[in-house]
Amino acid sequence: MSEHTRHPVQAQEPDLPPFPEDDPRLLPGVRHPWQAEVLVGVLFSLSFLSTVALATTYSVGGQPQLEGGFLGFALACLGAGMISWGKYLMPRGPFVEDREYEGREDLESNPEDRRSFIGSFGRGAVIVGRRPFLLGLLGMAGAAFSAVLIFPLRSLGPQPKLTLFKTNWGKGTLVVREDGSPVNVADMDVGSYMTVFPAGFETDPNAQAIDQVILIHVAAEPLPTRQGPASWTPDGYFAFSKVCTHAGCPVSLYEAQTQQLLCPCHQSLFDILIGAFPIFGPAPRPLPQLALMVDSKGNLRSQHGFLEPIGPGFWERGAYPKGGYRS
Ligand code: FES
Repeated sequence: MSEHTRHPVQAQEPDLPPFPEDDPRLLPGVRHPWQAEVLVGVLFSLSFLSTVALATTYSVGGQPQLEGGFLGFALACLGAGMISWGKYLMPRGPFVEDREYEGREDLESNPEDRRSFIGSFGRGAVIVGRRPFLLGLLGMAGAAFSAVLIFPLRSLGPQPKLTLFKTNWGKGTLVVREDGSPVNVADMDVGSYMTVFPAGFETDPNAQAIDQVILIHVAAEPLPTRQGPASWTPDGYFAFSKVCTHAGCPVSLYEAQTQQLLCPCHQSLFDILIGAFPIFGPAPRPLPQLALMVDSKGNLRSQHGFLEPIGPGFWERGAYPKGGYRS
C-alpha cells in the first residue's frame, strides 16, 4: 500500500466525509506502486532529456535523422509514461455503484447521486495530486515538448514579402539567353522557341525561378492576342511566363502546329493565339504575357513588367501592386 493511503484522505468538498483509507477507488492497481512510480519517473525524464537533445541538435544546425529520432523517442517515452501511470498507479476498476430505480418517477439525480459524483472528482484529484513529483516531471516534459513545437515556425525562413509579386522584368529590359547573350529578332526561325531571362538575372538568386519566360517565334509578323495589342508581339515573337499557373511547373513543351503550350506536370494546355488561355487541364488562368519590343539593334526587350502575378494563385494574390511589377 502506498504511504499516502495510510491515513484517511480529506475530500475537497466540505460536506463530503473523508474517503476511507481502504477505499478501493483510491488504491493503485499494483501492489508495489513505488516501482511503477520509478518507471513513470524514468520515462518522463527520458522524454524530457530527449526533447532537450532535439532542441540542442536543432540549435546547432540540425540533422534531420537525429532530430527525428529524438522526437520519436521523446514522444514514445511521454506516451509510455502516461500509459504506465494510468495502468499501474490509478485504481483498477471497474467500480459499480448501485442505482435505485424503484419508486423513482424520473431519472433526475438526487442529492446523494450528486454528492457521489462530486466525490468522484474529489477522489480523482486526490489520486493524481498525491504524486506531485511525477506531476512535475510530466509538466517539465510537456513544457519542453511544447517549446520544440515552435521550431517549425522558425524553420519557415524569412517572409517572402513582395518577392512573390515582383520579377526582374521591367521597362526596356534586354531579353537574354541562359548564357547572358541577347536575343535578336533575326536569331530564331518561325516555329522555334527557347527559355529566356531578363539581362542581369545571374545576380539574383530567385531570378531563374520567377523570371523564366518561354519565347516563341510564332509567325513572321505581329499577331494580336486576347490579352495584348499587336505591339506586344513584334515580328511574331511571343513571350509568356514559364511558371505554370496551376502548381508552378515550368511550361516547357511547344506544339507549333496547334500553337499550344503544354505543361508536363498535369497536362494543362494553353492556346498561344488567345493569350495563352488554358483550354485543357487544371490551370485556372492564362500564362501572363510579357509585352516585347525591338530596340535599334534588333534585340528583343520587354516593354514593361508583367501586368499580372506570375505562377500559381494563392491567398494574397489580390494584394499585388497594380500597374506592373518593377516597371
Ligand atoms: S503545374 Fe502545370 S498543369 Fe499542373
